[in-house]
Amino acid sequence: MRTIDWDADRDCVAMVDQTRLPAEYTTYYAETVDELVESIRILRVRGAPALGAAGAYGAALAARRADAGSFEEFERRARAAAERVAEARPTAVNLAREVEAVLAELDRAETVAEARERTLTAAERIADADVERNRAIGRHGADLLEDGATVMTHCNAGALATVDWGTALGVVYSADEQGKNVDVIANETRPLNQGSRITTVELRERDVRTTLIPDNASGLCMQEGRIDAVVVGADRIVLDGGEQFGDGAVVFNKIGTYKQAVLADRHDVPFVVAAPTATIDSDSDADEVEIEERDPGELREIYRRPNAPEDVPVYNPAFDPTPAELIDYLVTEDGVFEPPLDADAVLGGEDATDREAAAQST
Ligand code: MRU
Repeated sequence: MRTIDWDADRDCVAMVDQTRLPAEYTTYYAETVDELVESIRILRVRGAPALGAAGAYGAALAARRADAGSFEEFERRARAAAERVAEARPTAVNLAREVEAVLAELDRAETVAEARERTLTAAERIADADVERNRAIGRHGADLLEDGATVMTHCNAGALATVDWGTALGVVYSADEQGKNVDVIANETRPLNQGSRITTVELRERDVRTTLIPDNASGLCMQEGRIDAVVVGADRIVLDGGEQFGDGAVVFNKIGTYKQAVLADRHDVPFVVAAPTATIDSDSDADEVEIEERDPGELREIYRRPNAPEDVPVYNPAFDPTPAELIDYLVTEDGVFEPPLDADAVLGGEDATDREAAAQST
């Protein structure tokens, strides 16, 4: 099954329940907008491209569940419900972007039935496009890896972070398809352990040789010369660093990514970001990106047991920014780019919203 999909029989959103990994591989059905919002908040579905699909299907779900009185009332309710999906998490640009892309279908519809059909068709198209883009990212990125290479990755940017195939791990899977042997070192990625709970599971399912390390071992692994490349995904890429970073792109990804980039720079290990253009936000600069802060309980407890004094102050940011000067390659569905990662080079002068509008009108 895809990581997230529309279940036609139940008329709702189906997703792999990632809160249950690695113990169980189960499907969760979000029948209501509230259930979908909760699923996004607790990371039942997660990873920027999968969140994009969740946003797209969420807008379709909102249109299906909105009570139909007049068309205007239906539209108002559908938009309000879809907005709640868009706001469920702030950092990955894909979520709000794909909600908006699907909501645009409401303006093209004349009846409630037509609006429901159009929004679902648009969501399906967005989900399919994600898989195609990831395949292309994989093909381009695989050219950067030698046979026998060992890749370090952080968090989970694999099939389970996308509709299918993955971005950073898609590069590994594509290298494997090209007949290259690639090993992976997976950082555990505290505090929610997407590396150990999710990345190792999907890599082993695909028979990729995988070693799990605690986050704090990544420096030692580089000192020991074990790593040939670091390949990570992205939650949002801005092409303007704002006041904090000045000119140049900045990649926001799972907390700890910046640390891996600094270490990679120090040890001359290529640092690769693999992400679709749908993750590029050319409307914001780095100062405008909200870094999600998560619940202190994620640190004060481990597996429902105390991990710290229950009132200890906690700072629990979910993402950090890595500036382009620490990035050797950005791989998108359009190819491999090296800094400076400016809009003309990376997007050919278009932003992702223009591209999606163009794709939808064809
Ligand atoms: O908090 P998460 O699990 O949603 O964070 C996910 C990441 O940081 C991924 O690296 C990123 O979304 C890229 S997924 C292809």
